[in-house]
Amino acid sequence: MKLTVRQKIFTYMGLLVVIIGISHAVTNQLYMNFVFDQFRKEEIGAGYLNATPSEQIEVLKTYVTNKMKWIGPGKGAFILVIGLFFSLWISGVLTLPLRKLMAAIERVALGDLDVNVPVQSKDEYGKVIETFNDMTLRLRAAEDARRRLLADVAHELRTPLSIIQLKLENAHQTGQNVPPEMLLRLHDEVIRLSLLVEDLHVLSLAEAGRLSLDRKPLDLTKKLEQIMDDVKVEAEENGLDIRLSSKVGAVIVTADSRRITQVFINLLTNSIRYTPKGGNISVVIEKEVTYRNEIFACVSIMDNGIGIPTEELPHLFDRFYRVEKARSRHTGGAGLGLSIAHQFVRAHDGFIRVESQLNKGTTFTVYLPI
Ligand SMILES: Nc1ncnc2c1ncn2[C@@H]1O[C@H](COP(=O)(O)OP(=O)(O)OP(=O)(O)O)[C@@H](O)[C@H]1O
Ligand SMILES: [Mg+2]
Repeated sequence: MKLTVRQKIFTYMGLLVVIIGISHAVTNQLYMNFVFDQFRKEEIGAGYLNATPSEQIEVLKTYVTNKMKWIGPGKGAFILVIGLFFSLWISGVLTLPLRKLMAAIERVALGDLDVNVPVQSKDEYGKVIETFNDMTLRLRAAEDARRRLLADVAHELRTPLSIIQLKLENAHQTGQNVPPEMLLRLHDEVIRLSLLVEDLHVLSLAEAGRLSLDRKPLDLTKKLEQIMDDVKVEAEENGLDIRLSSKVGAVIVTADSRRITQVFINLLTNSIRYTPKGGNISVVIEKEVTYRNEIFACVSIMDNGIGIPTEELPHLFDRFYRVEKARSRHTGGAGLGLSIAHQFVRAHDGFIRVESQLNKGTTFTVYLPI
């Protein structure tokens, strides 16, 4: 039955009134019959039959009134008992889901998120319980994400830290001066660590929507030419052909130049990293692309590298996410590059699309509003 709690209370209260009304009428009826029967037995004798009709009526009246004196309190007590039992039952029935929910809430308050209250009704309680279950599910997911993040951060920090520690301990034990190449190696590890910490810091700022942006008119074409000049050397060292293959002239967006540079650097270093020797990377700029009634400037970065399996695509922008095959490769960062790119573009009210085919190549497209 699909009744709301309000309708249920109304129905039960109505039922109570009907029960009391019926018991009132029935007890009255039965008692009156009993009183008249008694009267017949006890009072109708010679004296009564010889009395005048008006005296008879008086006798009847006094008898009945006397008897009726007892029914008031008796019936009151009876109805009170029925009413109390009924109310006790109803209050139990109506608050049962609430009590179950309270027990679950207490468990959550004590830190146990593994609770699920069965939804047994479709009334307001049912909705509250459904929302509660949904909430604990989300809390569980957030808690899992927090644990995973902590484990990932610890994992990423552990490697450089243990390298530094080992080298320093070695130097300390042998008592020799630290050779310059070892210092260089140590310095590299320290830089790696600070970059990682810095990446995590901006990422957490961006996720909390607190990334400060210095937005100014920016020519995407010019910016990309600059960035590609910077990464060209690395690409060529890896035997890759990299080129800007569109001639659209100036494309102006209002953006934070530093953040946008980082977005494209991250995407381009990925393409360089995940495209084998002899591959091509091409960058295409489109001036105006309409998407959902909004106009965007688009930059696509296409490579014909190792590609990404379709089932990995939904997680690609997650923090520390790396495709398993890439993880085992020697190339490799922490898996923060795409999360940072995603968050920075989002902070500019844009978005990134990715298309990829395993062993064929990958295209990342950045949409920035104009
Ligand atoms: N162009 C690409 N081709 C193939 N795989 C890619 C490409 N770009 C990203 N990936 C996959 O997505 C994963 C996540 O990329 P992301 O840039 O976030 O991390 P990363 O490059 O491994 O490390 P970081 O960028 O932090 O140094 C990569 O590990 C790689 O498996
Ligand atoms: Mg990367």
